[in-house]
Amino acid sequence: MKKVTTLGQFIIERQKDFPFAKGELSRLLRDIGIAAKIVNREVNKAGLVDILGEHGTTNIQGEEVKKLDVFANEQFIDALSSGGETCAVASEENEEIIHIEGEVSANAKYVVSVDPLDGSSNIDVNVSIGTIFSIIRRSSEPGIPVNENDYLQKGTSMVAAGYIIYGSSTMLVYTTGRGVNGFTLDPSIGEFCLSHPDMKCPEEGKIYSINEGNYVHFPEGVKQYIKYCQVEDEATKRPYSSRYIGSLVADFHRNLLKGGIFIYPSTAKSPNGKLRLLYECNPVAWIIEQAGGKASDGYTRIMEKQPKTLHERTPLFIGSANMVTMAEEFMQKFSPKN
Ligand code: AHG
Ligand code: MN
Ligand code: MN
Repeated sequence: MKKVTTLGQFIIERQKDFPFAKGELSRLLRDIGIAAKIVNREVNKAGLVDILGEHGTTNIQGEEVKKLDVFANEQFIDALSSGGETCAVASEENEEIIHIEGEVSANAKYVVSVDPLDGSSNIDVNVSIGTIFSIIRRSSEPGIPVNENDYLQKGTSMVAAGYIIYGSSTMLVYTTGRGVNGFTLDPSIGEFCLSHPDMKCPEEGKIYSINEGNYVHFPEGVKQYIKYCQVEDEATKRPYSSRYIGSLVADFHRNLLKGGIFIYPSTAKSPNGKLRLLYECNPVAWIIEQAGGKASDGYTRIMEKQPKTLHERTPLFIGSANMVTMAEEFMQKFSPKN
C-alpha cells in the first residue's frame, strides 16, 4: 500500500528548507489546518440549518447559531490566537486589524490575512466555498503593537499562502515559495493527506471564467477578449468553455488543475473590481505563479502592487500563463492605461 503523507508530516519534512526558521511558520500552517477542519465540519452541516436552527436563534445545546462566515472568522482567529505564532490577523470580516494579546504572541514576527469564508453567496445552495490566507513577516520589530503599515507590503513579501476548498471533497492547497502542494481531507482519519504534490497549471487552457452578467460595464479590452474566447478556431481550440461558480476559490482551483483564465475586471461602477488585494488576490497570485501560471490586474503583476489600505480591491486576471498574457494584450490594445 502507498504510504500516506499527512499535512503535519509534510510541514515538518519541509521545515529543513528554511534553515533559519524556528518552526513558527510550520506551527502557523498547522493551526490553519486545524481551523479548516472545524470549519469543514460546520460547512457540511449547513444544509441542516432548518433542523439545527436559523441563524441568530439559539440551538438545542443553548448555543447561538451563527452565520457561517462569522463562525469561520472566529475559528481562524481562535486557532491563530491559541498557537501564539502570530501577533495579528487581518480579516475580510473585520474593519480593523485584530491584535492577539498574550506574552508569546507579542513577540511573534508573523502576521496573517484571511478571507475566512469565500463565496458566501453559495453557502446555502450546496456549492463549493473556501478560505484564503496569507502570511507575511511584520515590517516593524516585534514587541510593539502591529499597525496597518505592517500589512501594507507587496505580495512579493509573502512567506506562505494558501486556500481551503470545501467542495465535493475538502482540500488545502498552499505554497511557501517552493512549489504548490495540495492535501485532501480524509474524513475517516480526520487528516489532510498529500494528494496533489507539486501542482502545475497548464500553460494553455480552454476555460474562461467571468461574471458575464456585468458585460456592459466591462472595459473594452475585456469585452474584446471575451469575444476572442468565443470565436471558432481549430488551431487554438476555440471557442473556449465558459465556467463560473461565483466562488473565487472554486473557480481558481478548477482552472489551476485544468488550465483556464479567471477574470474579475474593473467595472464602470467599481473601477478596482471587487476582489481584495491582501487576502484574496495576493495569495492566489503566488500560488498560480508557483504553479507556472500568471496573475495580473490587466497591466501589472498582482504581487508587485503596493497596497495602500488593508481592504483595497484590485481587478484580477489569473490562470494559465499564455491566456493571461493574451488577455493583457487585449487590455493594452483596447483599454490602454492613461
Ligand atoms: P466573499 O464571499 O468572500 O465576499 O467573496 C465573493 C467573491 C468571490 O468569491 C467571487 O469570485 C466573487 O465574489 C463573485 O462575485 P460576483 O457575484 O459579482 O460574480
Ligand atoms: Mn472572498
Ligand atoms: Mn469572505
